[in-house]
Amino acid sequence: MKAIEILIKEHNLISLVLPLIKKSAEDITMNKGPKQEFYKLLVDFTKDFTNGVHHYKEEIVMFGLLAQKLDGKLDAQIEKLRSQHSVLRDLATDISSSLDNYTKGHESAERQLHRASLDYASKLQEHIETENRVFYPVTVKVLNDTEKENLLAEFESYESKFEENSFTKNQARFQRMSELV
Ligand SMILES: [Fe+2]
Ligand SMILES: [Fe+2]
Repeated sequence: MKAIEILIKEHNLISLVLPLIKKSAEDITMNKGPKQEFYKLLVDFTKDFTNGVHHYKEEIVMFGLLAQKLDGKLDAQIEKLRSQHSVLRDLATDISSSLDNYTKGHESAERQLHRASLDYASKLQEHIETENRVFYPVTVKVLNDTEKENLLAEFESYESKFEENSFTKNQARFQRMSELV
């Protein structure tokens, strides 16, 4: 199923960033201080790609399509994934605001950045694993061919709104981040 293959490809790119987040957090505890360019790239990657592209496609497009399937039997699972997206968005906001506070010289900012980024990486990893192992296989089973085609068409229509290919753009951000840690 092409639409799910696209989401898995996005998971794979996001998953490459997670060990970099952990490594950067370690550097903070070693008193090296946060690398601001890394965290700025992370904030952009998260906002534009993880939230703006990947979670948008899942939440607004795919979860909507699945909501009434199997007489609502998937609804509880969808709600759980939706609320995990919301927790992840809050943690991404914490990363961004603690980075701002760090640049302003606030004392507790490093600690906040360390905690928020580690929490973000571990929760996102867990979330991705659940979707790959449990939720995506169910989606492939439950949708009929027409719905699968519609889902792909909606993904493509959403992607076409961006001037630059979002995957390629964020792959480049990942490359740069990996050079910085
Ligand atoms: Fe998700
Ligand atoms: Fe996902």
